Amino acid sequence: MDIDIVSVFPEYFDVLNLSLLGKAQQKGLVTVRTHNLRDWTHDVHHSVDDTPVGGGAGMVMKPEVWAECLDDLLGLDPVTVDALDFQTAVASRFGNDAVANDGASADESSPQLDAEGEYALSDYDAGDAEPLGPVLIFPNPSAPMFTQKDATELAGRQRLVFGCGRYEGYDARIPRYYRAQGIDVREYSIGDYVLNGGEVAVSVMLEAITRLLPGFMGNAESIVEESYTGDNALLEHYQYTKPATWRGLSVPKVLLGGDHGKVDRFRRDEALAKTSRLRPDLIEKLDCHALDKKDRKT
Ligand code: ADE
Repeated sequence: MDIDIVSVFPEYFDVLNLSLLGKAQQKGLVTVRTHNLRDWTHDVHHSVDDTPVGGGAGMVMKPEVWAECLDDLLGLDPVTVDALDFQTAVASRFGNDAVANDGASADESSPQLDAEGEYALSDYDAGDAEPLGPVLIFPNPSAPMFTQKDATELAGRQRLVFGCGRYEGYDARIPRYYRAQGIDVREYSIGDYVLNGGEVAVSVMLEAITRLLPGFMGNAESIVEESYTGDNALLEHYQYTKPATWRGLSVPKVLLGGDHGKVDRFRRDEALAKTSRLRPDLIEKLDCHALDKKDRKT
């Protein structure tokens, strides 16, 4: 897997040479290249941001600098996007009503038009993007949540390019522009809180993705059994190691008995009970066909 990371603080990613990801790089499973966005500026101050149009606090990252950088990394020539192309694309996917420039959309699920009649492409996935082309990923606190499912899907892609925003974020036209070029652009939040920039969020996503690469982990089974994995994900059961009794606390007896059937049943019950208590939202998402009769009693 080939990974590019663009940031104004590329040093943040020096830690990627440590630990398992460092080993994976040495083994040739992953190549990580970091880039300083300021290398694509042309002014003496190397500025990457400007004041928000329409007013407001903070600074917004400039589209020109990002685009010069991303064009280089993705091997694209600069083009001017024809607003009509947007509308044609929308019409073919959502019907003509969706592009009627009257401020109203066909129904709740249709895309909204912004003040200039331009389709808010940033809110939709790149349906027409090349399935195995590069994926451009921007961490963003106001995007959909990054999940284990996303990590699993992205672990199957050959090339990932991460762009780390700073300040009040990046100009909204950047993801729209690359979607219009047929690039698969994703925006993800890693949680409902605001960080100072995208670097930590990229580190989180990168670790979640790369540990799923075949050959990355010493023990592939540990991935199959862990929390959030699979379509009917539960939190993982509790784990214990030796000694069997420590400071008066004993491990559950069934785990010492050597009966694998009983151990599996115990762990499944523990996972169900733990998930109901800590993450009832995951229980609600469970497919009832995935539960057996014994589960229902729990
Ligand atoms: N940038 C700042 N906060 C973030 C968050 N919670 N997730 C992703 N990117 C971010």
